[in-house]
Amino acid sequence: MSTDIKTHMAVVTLGVGDYSQLSYKPVPTPLDMDPGRELIKVLSCGLNNTDLNTRVGWYSKDADNPTGYGGEKPSPFPLIQGTDGFGITSGGQRVLVRSSTPRGWYGSDFSGFFQQYCEVDSRDVFPVPDGCKLSEAQLGTIPCIYGTAENMLLRASVREGDRVIVPGASGGVAGAVIELCLARGCNVVGMTSNEVKAKNLRERFGTSVSVRIVTSLPTDEKFTCAIDNVGGAGASLLIEALEEGGRYVTSGAIAGHEVKVDMRTVYLKVLTIFGSTRWNDDVMHNLIRYLGEGKLNPVVGRTFKLGEIVEAQKCFEQRKVAGKIVLLPWEGEGGV
Ligand SMILES: NC(=O)c1ccc[n+]([C@@H]2O[C@H](COP(=O)([O-])OP(=O)(O)OC[C@H]3O[C@@H](n4cnc5c(N)ncnc54)[C@H](OP(=O)(O)O)[C@@H]3O)[C@@H](O)[C@H]2O)c1
Repeated sequence: MSTDIKTHMAVVTLGVGDYSQLSYKPVPTPLDMDPGRELIKVLSCGLNNTDLNTRVGWYSKDADNPTGYGGEKPSPFPLIQGTDGFGITSGGQRVLVRSSTPRGWYGSDFSGFFQQYCEVDSRDVFPVPDGCKLSEAQLGTIPCIYGTAENMLLRASVREGDRVIVPGASGGVAGAVIELCLARGCNVVGMTSNEVKAKNLRERFGTSVSVRIVTSLPTDEKFTCAIDNVGGAGASLLIEALEEGGRYVTSGAIAGHEVKVDMRTVYLKVLTIFGSTRWNDDVMHNLIRYLGEGKLNPVVGRTFKLGEIVEAQKCFEQRKVAGKIVLLPWEGEGGV
């Protein structure tokens, strides 16, 4: 289906529910915007768990109110989801758009990037450095996973010399955490669920003395920091594996949000637990700097057209592809 100037193609999530809630259709293109707003042509958009979580009502703590986001305000369905935005401004500048803003998240609280054009707040837009060699698909994975990872590291003041344990190492956020920890000069142990994934991750991160990939929690060492987006039963073991004064950071709980914690460990070892979701102002500035320095190497597993959203999300859910799944909204639509 082709686009004209007044409309463009988008995936509209109609409400809470299964894949039948995703409707690929033309929507009006905003052409008359308020000052401080701008239109970007979306070149790529990574898929993330939050897209699925919001659609199925996972965030709600109230069974009678499945649209509740974080158990507080409702998701504004019908909604164009997609929290990862890479695109080009009307002036031809390649930009990343921060996922998390002081006003909420793109794709959860207001329209996101599962569309060909997206109206954004100019304060959310960050130019991609000129020399950046990453592909369009790679750039479409940067905001959500790297922004989340950088914010977690800033929350816990992760720095050179920290000994960091990262579970779910094959995951998008965890992979970004490992890259950013290594760039800071930390020693990192990444934990993954099987040897096949471990082999892939060793190829990705190399075999320097600073990084080890393991398939179970080492029993004979203590860590200064645990960066955990997996949660579940493993979270309490990670907390036990921290040394005195250690820090535990979470911004996700894909294996379970109800976690048993021995409070004696927390207070006797003087631990600090950090939650993370709203990003510090430094996050995007730091990511843009790292991009300029060539420090980010996101792995793309597979790309899909925008109209293939259901197939793409099923592929994401199955987790058989190593690397991020990315939508290219102009693929098959006359290019960019
Ligand atoms: N609060 C925020 O701002 C924010 C932002 C981004 C993501 N998140 C959340 O953080 C979590 C991770 O996100 P992500 O994008 O990194 O996810 P992902 O790419 O899907 O990776 C999750 C990884 O967790 C491990 N895992 C362990 N138990 C699992 C289970 N029961 N189901 C699925 N995976 C399991 C797997 O790694 P191994 O096989 O290697 O162990 C998997 O690759 C999600 O819950 C997401 O919603 C939160």
